[in-house]
Formats: sequence, C-alpha cells, structure tokens
Amino acid sequence: MTILDGKKTSNEIKEEIADNVNAMVKKGERVPHLAAILVGSDGASMTYVNAKVKACKRVGFDSTLIELPEYTTEEDLLEKINDLNTNVAIDGFIVQLPLPDQIDEQKVLMAINPDKDVDGFHPVNVGRMALDLPTFLPATPYGIMELLERYQIETSGKNVVVMGRSHIVGRPMSILMSQKRKAGDATVTVVHSRSKNLADITKKADIIVAAIGISEFLTGDMVKEDVVIIDVGITRVPDATKKNGYRLAGDVHFESVSKKASYITPVPGGVGPMTIAMLLKNTLLARERR
Ligand code: GUN
Repeated sequence: MTILDGKKTSNEIKEEIADNVNAMVKKGERVPHLAAILVGSDGASMTYVNAKVKACKRVGFDSTLIELPEYTTEEDLLEKINDLNTNVAIDGFIVQLPLPDQIDEQKVLMAINPDKDVDGFHPVNVGRMALDLPTFLPATPYGIMELLERYQIETSGKNVVVMGRSHIVGRPMSILMSQKRKAGDATVTVVHSRSKNLADITKKADIIVAAIGISEFLTGDMVKEDVVIIDVGITRVPDATKKNGYRLAGDVHFESVSKKASYITPVPGGVGPMTIAMLLKNTLLARERR
C-alpha cells in the first residue's frame, strides 16, 4: 500500500509556483494577488481561509483577507464582490463557502467576474469545464487529478466511483475523470444518498473518490483488493484522548480500507493540501492571463 502524500506533492507544486513568482519579480513584474472573503466565524472556514492566505505568503503572492460579520447582508456582500471585480490590483478572489442563511450562495457566485473566479464556481467556468475549454478548474477536483497524474496512476478505461454529487467536488470530479485528458478517460459512476446497493457498486471500483461528508462511511468490506482510494472528507470526530478533544476523520475508514488498497490518501495530509496548491495555480494563471 502506498500513501498518496498530498502534503509532499503540494509542497512540490508550491515550489514550482514560487519559481514562477521569482522569475516575475526578476523581470520587475507585479506578483499575483489573491483576495478571500470570509463571512462569519465558522471554525473550519476560518482554518481553511487562513491556510490559503499563509500559502500565498509562502509562494510570494500578495493576499488580502476580507472578514465580514455573520450578519452581513447579501447586498453588502455583493458590493464587496463588485469592488474586487473592478479592483485592477486583484488577479483572483474567492468567497469562502458555506455562507450564512440570509445570503443566496448562487447569486453570490454569479456576481464574481468569471476572469477572477479562481475557485471555478461561476456557471460560465463550470460550463467551460464541462466542454473541456480553458478555464479555472475547481481546486479540489483539480488537485485530485494532479495527485493521480503525479503518482502515475492509470485511469484510462478504469471503473471510477465518485461518491457524492456536490457542486464543489463530486459533480466536477465525475465530469473531469470521464473526459479525454490526463487522469481522465475513465468509466465513471456517481453514487449519492439515494443510491441503492452501494457496496455492490463500490466493490467493482478500481478507483473511489469519497466525497459524501459522512465520517468513515466507506469500510473495508465495501471495496475490492488493490483499489485506489481518494478521501475528500474531513470531519472533526470527538476524541477524549486528544488534547483539543477531537481528531480529524475522512469519509473512509482508513484502518480497514488501507489493508486492501494499493494507494490511499491520508486525512489530514491528502486532498486538503492539494486543494490549496491548485488555488494558487489558478491564481497564477489568472495573473498570467491579464
Ligand atoms: N468551502 C469548501 N471548499 C471550498 C472551496 O474550495 N472554495 C470555497 N470558496 N469555499 C469552500
């Protein structure tokens, strides 16, 4: 069994990006600038956004964090988005999800200038992805494709089961892996909360992407020998033996599944760091395009 080391691979990608930034600086060019909007103080969202800002610093990008209170109105958020859309110093920006209930997420995503939408969530960019046109690929599926490619895992003609149909992970993942591309050309099945006889389907999979948001859902008896496992889940599970009172668990029951897997991503240190690296890659692309 080989661990798909997302931390190590993301560090390699960050070094490649930093080399690009150094070359820009040498030429006297402006470095990429990413902005992030965080509404409210959800613990997990704060952790993610802070990690994104820290990653910008590490590769030499400029970054701006805009923190808005939980009670922010949709109108105020749309105004901030408009500011960033027109601010020539900003190459790309993200609005961290989820948003508070009073704000319509779809309306917000549609307000982002597609040329600055480094999350790849705007309908224009989702459409471009589906048609295999140049675009910003959503960072988590992009990171998974990159991980599979760098570990030279064969996907062509393989049975891939994507567990979950979210707009951020499951849906784009299923589209990308079925396309004619690197880490693509797979036969893809999407399963979700209404799927029947789930284990019958997962047992036939050569590669499983677990993104259902239920901790340790996929267990060893649901997979075949030598399966490749990509675990997107990350949930805090109460654990009295830990100082902070919890541990991080994926959607995969690591102990039982890793015994059968040929490759598996750990949680943490698998998909998570790759997501951040690909957001940086999209920001570099946004800068280069302007
Ligand atoms: N929430 C969970 N994942 C993501 C992501 O990739 N981008 C944003 N903006 N919010 C998220």
